[in-house]
Amino acid sequence: MDADRKAQDPTLVCTCSDLYLYQIQQAIVEGEDEYNEIMQYNDTLPRCGECQDHVDALVAASTIQYNDQPQDK
Ligand code: FES
Repeated sequence: MDADRKAQDPTLVCTCSDLYLYQIQQAIVEGEDEYNEIMQYNDTLPRCGECQDHVDALVAASTIQYNDQPQDK
């Protein structure tokens, strides 16, 4: 991971594969919730793996938002 590059652009999630926030979110919207699957969805594979915590946090945040939706009764 290129920490300096990532610090300059908060939307950059994976510096090894140049994956941005919208690309991770698109994979999550399409139903992917595992790190390796999200990378594969974007036609790449994990390299250093240091972005996994960030990707996992995005998956968790999407789950929280989903669960916070009002339920139809
Ligand atoms: S930052 Fe290295 S695999 Fe994502």
